[in-house]
Parts: sequence; C-alpha cells; structure tokens
Amino acid sequence: MSGDNQRMILARRPVDLPGREHITFETCPDQPLRDDEVRVRVDYVALSPWQGQRMKDFKNYTTPFEIGELIDCDMLGTVIERGPLPAAGFDLGQTVTGRLGWRRRAEARPNDLQAVDGLDDPTLWLTALSSPGLTAYTALDLYGRTIPGQTMVVTSAAGAVGGYAVQLGKLAGMTVIGIAGGAEKCAYVENTLGADRCLDHRADDFAAALATALPDGAHQVFDTTGGPITDQVFENLAKHARVLIVGRTASNNSPTPASDPVNMRQLWAREAVVYGFSRYSYPERWAFARERMLALCQAGKIRAGHHLVDGFENTPDALGDMLAGKFFGKVLVRYHGPDGPL
Ligand SMILES: NC(=O)c1ccc[n+]([C@@H]2O[C@H](COP(=O)([O-])OP(=O)(O)OC[C@H]3O[C@@H](n4cnc5c(N)ncnc54)[C@H](OP(=O)(O)O)[C@@H]3O)[C@@H](O)[C@H]2O)c1
Repeated sequence: MSGDNQRMILARRPVDLPGREHITFETCPDQPLRDDEVRVRVDYVALSPWQGQRMKDFKNYTTPFEIGELIDCDMLGTVIERGPLPAAGFDLGQTVTGRLGWRRRAEARPNDLQAVDGLDDPTLWLTALSSPGLTAYTALDLYGRTIPGQTMVVTSAAGAVGGYAVQLGKLAGMTVIGIAGGAEKCAYVENTLGADRCLDHRADDFAAALATALPDGAHQVFDTTGGPITDQVFENLAKHARVLIVGRTASNNSPTPASDPVNMRQLWAREAVVYGFSRYSYPERWAFARERMLALCQAGKIRAGHHLVDGFENTPDALGDMLAGKFFGKVLVRYHGPDGPL
C-alpha cells in the first residue's frame, strides 16, 4: 500500500501557547517499507505539555524541535502493512503504541512499537498506563511519603497527571486538597476524583481558602504548575514538608519559560525537602507502575478518563487549548474512527 500521507511540522515557535499558526501541514508520499518495518495507521495521538515546551527554544531536559521537524507524540495505531521481513508479534490489524508523531501513517521498526492486547479500552495505553499514570505513580512511589491522615496538595488537580496523583493520594489514606481553575473543574476533582477539597486558583479568596483548608499545613505538595499558585501553597507548608516538583506549566506556557522564579522564603523557613522528578529517569520502573495502575483501574479504584477531540487538523489548536486549561484530564485526538479518517 502507498499513497499520500499527511504530517505536521513546526513552522515557527510560539511566544506563549502553541496553535495552528505555528504548524505547517505537509503532504508527502508513504515511504516503501524496508526489512521488518511495518506501516502503522495512527488512530489516536496523545497531547502532552512537552510538545508545547519543545516548540520553544530554551534550556530544559528536553531538546527543542527544529523548525521543519515533525511534532513527536505518543500514539495508538493499527498495523496496516508489513515489510519484506517478518516482524514478529506485529500482524496486520495489531493495535500498537509508540512515539510516531502528528501524522496519519508512519513506517516503524518493531523496536519502536509495543503491541497492545487484552484491554477493553486500548486508549488506557495513552492515559493511566502511559505518561500521566506512570508519572503520578512513580513520583509518589519513589519520593512521596503517603502517610494516612497527612495532607497532600495537588496542583492542576483536574489535569492528566494531577488527576492520578489525587486518586493515588486518596487510596493511600491521605487528606487531599486539589487546586484547579474554575468551579466546574473543582467539582470534578471533588466529586469524581474524590479529593477532600478542591480550591479554585482563579477565585478572589484563593489565598484565604487555601489557608483555611490547610490548618496544619501541607505535609506534601505534588506540583505540576509552579508559578504564583505554587508560591501560594508554599505559604502554607507544614514543617519538613515534602515538595515533589513534577512540572512547570506556568513558566512553560509563558513568553519567558527559561525564567522561572520561586519564592524560596517558606521552603527555607519550613525546612522543606524538594525533589525534582522526571519519569524519563526511571524507565526500569515503568513496567511495575503500569502493572499497578492497570490493576487499580481494573479494580475500579482509579478512574482513567480522557477528553477526546476528533480530527487531524484540530491537533495544534487542541494542544493550545489543553495548555490553557480548556479540558479535563488527558487529551487525545482521534485521526481514524470506525467510518474512516477524521
Ligand atoms: N516530570 C515528569 O516526568 C512529567 C511527566 C508528565 C508531565 N509532566 C509535566 O507536568 C505538567 C502537567 O502535565 P499534564 O499532562 O498533567 O498537563 P495538564 O495539567 O493536564 O494540563 C495543563 C493544565 O495546567 C493548568 N494551567 C494552565 N496554565 C497555567 C498557568 N499559567 N499556571 C498554572 N496552571 C496552569 C490548567 O489547569 P487549570 O485549568 O486547572 O488551571 C491546564 O489544564 C506539565 O508541566 C508537564 O510538562 C512532567
């Protein structure tokens, strides 16, 4: 099989949030398959903050995309063609996951793919069993101190990673105070994810509400945002609090991502312990975290929801909308449905 493929490459760097204006849509022919390559039809892509981060050029643990480079991403797809040599485990019709990028079809080596079998909902591979679930689980497993009765604050609590941190904290018996943007998200964090309270960081009384919700201070902070929200949390730390720095959305989204000031006063005054965390440092832990997250999902103890956007062309704007806070949980874009391409 061959034909015209479509892909998205970086056209120009965003100043704050990415969108369609930063992307060029390219049409290019499918490449002939070599050796044990297979051709994969991309059915779903996962939108991740690191994509927006890599569209900018600043010093970070990731490498910036080059202008003209394909935007990378985790995807869920289907094997639709096989090369001349056997690709064991990758028959036609096999559902696979891998990091193949914003394109309709991709040539891939077996080592670039993982077969997805035995799941009622394969999209779980892009949510609880992928970056968001593995990040929350591994960060808490390695650096958390999830003591029943102690209080954990989770920022971006309705977000992809934060939503799992909230649920894992509750399963561990902690009091969990979420922080999210808007009343609707806060209701979701309390009523669906099970947080004890969720505070709206946009509310005028946010600082006072946070102090009221944390009479003994936060024993642990699971932070994915940084910026003024987190600084406000730092005003309410318990002595010897643990702070897990998992993300920096506030600075990443800003026009000055390389500048990321933090009010250190209370970190020092409360003798807090700060852990920076990247899941990429612990690939040896992913299989274990995936197994535990799957067991918790299958037991109905963890809810793995996602927001679905349909349509290849909608991908760049959906990334900007996600980073701006428009959606709840992990955001997936569907490129191919039961009736064909979308
Ligand atoms: N360390 C790791 O291994 C690892 C792995 C995955 C992700 N991360 C990082 O973790 C962070 C969260 O990732 P995610 O996938 O879970 O994304 P997310 O939290 O689902 O999405 C971003 C959310 O950030 C909030 N937000 C937007 N602008 C903000 C601002 N200026 N200040 C504070 N919050 C803002 C919005 O939530 P509200 O509407 O509630 O404000 C928005 O929904 C990202 O920075 C990502 O890079 C790290």
